[in-house]
Amino acid sequence: MRGARIIGTGRYLPSRVVPNVELENYMDTSDEWIQQRTGIKERRYVQEGESSATMGAEAARKALEKAGLSPEDVDFVVFATLSPDYFFPGCGVLVQDMLGLREVGALDVRNQCSGFIYALQVAESLVKVGRYDHVLVIGAEVHSTGLDFSTEGRDVTVIFGDGAGAVVVGPSDPGEGILGTWTHSEGKYAKQLWCEAPSSACNPRISEEMLRERRHFPYMNGRYVFTHAVKRFSEVISEALEECGYALEDLDLLIPHQANLRISQAVAKNLGLSEEKVFSNIQKYGNTTAASIPIALDECVEEGRVSRGDLVCLASFGSGFTWASALVRW
Ligand code: UT7
Repeated sequence: MRGARIIGTGRYLPSRVVPNVELENYMDTSDEWIQQRTGIKERRYVQEGESSATMGAEAARKALEKAGLSPEDVDFVVFATLSPDYFFPGCGVLVQDMLGLREVGALDVRNQCSGFIYALQVAESLVKVGRYDHVLVIGAEVHSTGLDFSTEGRDVTVIFGDGAGAVVVGPSDPGEGILGTWTHSEGKYAKQLWCEAPSSACNPRISEEMLRERRHFPYMNGRYVFTHAVKRFSEVISEALEECGYALEDLDLLIPHQANLRISQAVAKNLGLSEEKVFSNIQKYGNTTAASIPIALDECVEEGRVSRGDLVCLASFGSGFTWASALVRW
């Protein structure tokens, strides 16, 4: 079987910057609290005309450019988001149209913070078995239009931001590129981090009562999620290294989903990994769920944090619960 590797990366961040002090105008919070508890200094919010699909398309355009490919070269699209433009259809088909792709397959993945790695696993498999040569993998998220900006929602609202990232996965020699991907879930914790409404399990799907009860805003049991995140991040990183026969010392860079700076620090401490080997850009963008890893990857490439031959681990944990990792020989 041939290999599969990431041959291009791209990102799109909305131009509207929202610093912590702006949030102080809407809710009882402070720049100090947010920075101390999360590491976040500012995040981006979409403006009129920007959506998960439009941002995803822009990020994908850049990834294709960097891969030296044109839209006709794309064989398949996998789009990861928890905030699709519409209930249906998904964002993958919207991007197929926006980029003028051939009539290729377009799949949406709904795995929240782990969505990008789940999507990467699909792309990896399709390329490795030789089904397709170039798969576009996109993670894009719009949180700002669905957050509770009252004090009641402050624990969740201050964390999240909008943005998009994309990669192109193409063929490589066996043993280089994406060495493997590992995905997990534990649905019994679905309600510890979720957004219930609108819901097809309710008739009507949204009601005055649901709105009054704020069931259309995301709910998170923060401390509970935090504890599970530290445990699962550590496990799934170790799983990737062990299965490929590497030790922690072999790792050049860990690019974790940007959930909370304290989570990344706790994971590094847990594993015994020096913090210089852990990439972080949550300070600028907050938590952008499925978009955070591809945005980080693109920045790492641009800043020269990853170079050919480096061993890089991507890892995530989030709603579901879901967690995942990918080990890449860059
Ligand atoms: O993307 C993957 C999934 N998400 C995560 O991984 C996030 C996991 N959880 C977290 O990052 C943290 O739990 C939070 C950042 C959400 C919260 O931090 P915490 O250190 O766990 O704080 P807490 O929820 O225990 O709250 C501590 C205090 C509370 O006040 P009292 O009860 O001690 O008086 C909260 O009401 O901080 C208060 N608080 C705030 N104060 C100012 C909660 N949110 C805020 C806020 N501003 N935004």
